[in-house]
Amino acid sequence: MWKNKHITFFITGGIAVYKTVELIRTFQKAGAEVRVAMTKTATQFVSKNTFQTISKHTVQTDLFEQATPAAVAHVELADWTELAIVVPATANIMSKMAVGMADDFVSTTLLALSVPVVIVPAMNVHMWNNAATQRNVQALKNDGVHVMEPDDGPLAEGYSGKGRFPDTMAIFDYVTNLSENLVNSKLAKFNGKRVLITAGGTREYIDPVRYISNKSSGKMGYALAKVAQKNGASVTLISANVTLPVPQGVKLVQVETVAELSKAVHSYFATTDVFIMAAAVSDYRPIHFVDHKIKKLAESSNLTIKLEETPDILKSLKQVRTNQIVVGFAAETNDLLDNAKKKLDSKGADIIVANDVSQADIGFGSEDNAITILQHDTENIKVSKANKRIIARKILEVIAKRFT
Ligand SMILES: Cc1cc2nc3c(=O)[nH]c(=O)nc-3n(C[C@H](O)[C@H](O)[C@H](O)COP(=O)(O)O)c2cc1C
Repeated sequence: MWKNKHITFFITGGIAVYKTVELIRTFQKAGAEVRVAMTKTATQFVSKNTFQTISKHTVQTDLFEQATPAAVAHVELADWTELAIVVPATANIMSKMAVGMADDFVSTTLLALSVPVVIVPAMNVHMWNNAATQRNVQALKNDGVHVMEPDDGPLAEGYSGKGRFPDTMAIFDYVTNLSENLVNSKLAKFNGKRVLITAGGTREYIDPVRYISNKSSGKMGYALAKVAQKNGASVTLISANVTLPVPQGVKLVQVETVAELSKAVHSYFATTDVFIMAAAVSDYRPIHFVDHKIKKLAESSNLTIKLEETPDILKSLKQVRTNQIVVGFAAETNDLLDNAKKKLDSKGADIIVANDVSQADIGFGSEDNAITILQHDTENIKVSKANKRIIARKILEVIAKRFT
């Protein structure tokens, strides 16, 4: 279950820091991809170099030491992370997390996460029993953070009490059990489901070298495919002109034009449980394809290309549909919700995902998206700007609720 899972270890400054090396190795042996962030205090106990060597990635301690100027490091790491583990969690980091403080790389990244967080506190028994610490533990639990209770036993101070860092395998088992339950509670219903997803943008050829297309990068459809596949779905991805790496375990069908996309959708639709139309499709195409490169005309004359409507793929499924859950996208630059609602009513889809493509920092080509999910029978669900992987999760959670 840990294969290729992105886990970030947040190491804070307690005496048990050295024990986390073995813990990280255990998750790596189980197949996880690991990154590490450390507080400056943690580096007093074990150097950054140790963790850089085992994780094979830069270990960041400072908010302003950007690996690449293009990316904001704490946001990049938060978006990459699928599971966060804070080990050993000091009394200090718990107090900061409990109030949402973000004054260094570790606490800022933790605040930027929207994935499950597990903390493994370890400290002196009196620090653990202190009313402030216990108040913070309760606050973190209320916020949905998973707190693994420390062990009772001999402490570094030479006496016994609660506060000991648990054994490596006990932590590994705790997180594994938890993670299985986390998956079960949200997207587990995708296990064994057949999911058909379209991604990218179609091309309608005018002549052999020129075409009408759109700015779709395919990132949203690919993110949906990856998350569905990771949660046990058998995914077929119909990809129109996308240059992204194909997610592992996903069946890829490559197409170029609306006609090819339509044909591929119809050939897989009957045997699918969920269909997600994330590809951006040309509404029009040239009536006539010119089989040679069109030469420039004599000066000051205009060239007119006559266009015809392309087949409406979502609508065409109405006639052949049996039990499939059908999800469409409405990429709009104006009157977003009105247009999306019209689409929901006219296309026979169960869900329409509306996204505003007029904003440069979300939508087409961007790493992020912000969406509103429309359904016939429930209130609209607004998902604010987040990485497309997280948006994909939210969309799939809504779909999973419709499985009977
Ligand atoms: C030798 C030594 C050992 C420490 N061990 C712990 C510990 O096990 N747990 C803890 O919560 N704090 C411990 N502390 C205190 C933390 O290092 C201190 O609260 C620090 O501010 C934590 O910073 P951080 O949370 O940013 O890493 C220890 C301090 C020293 C000097």
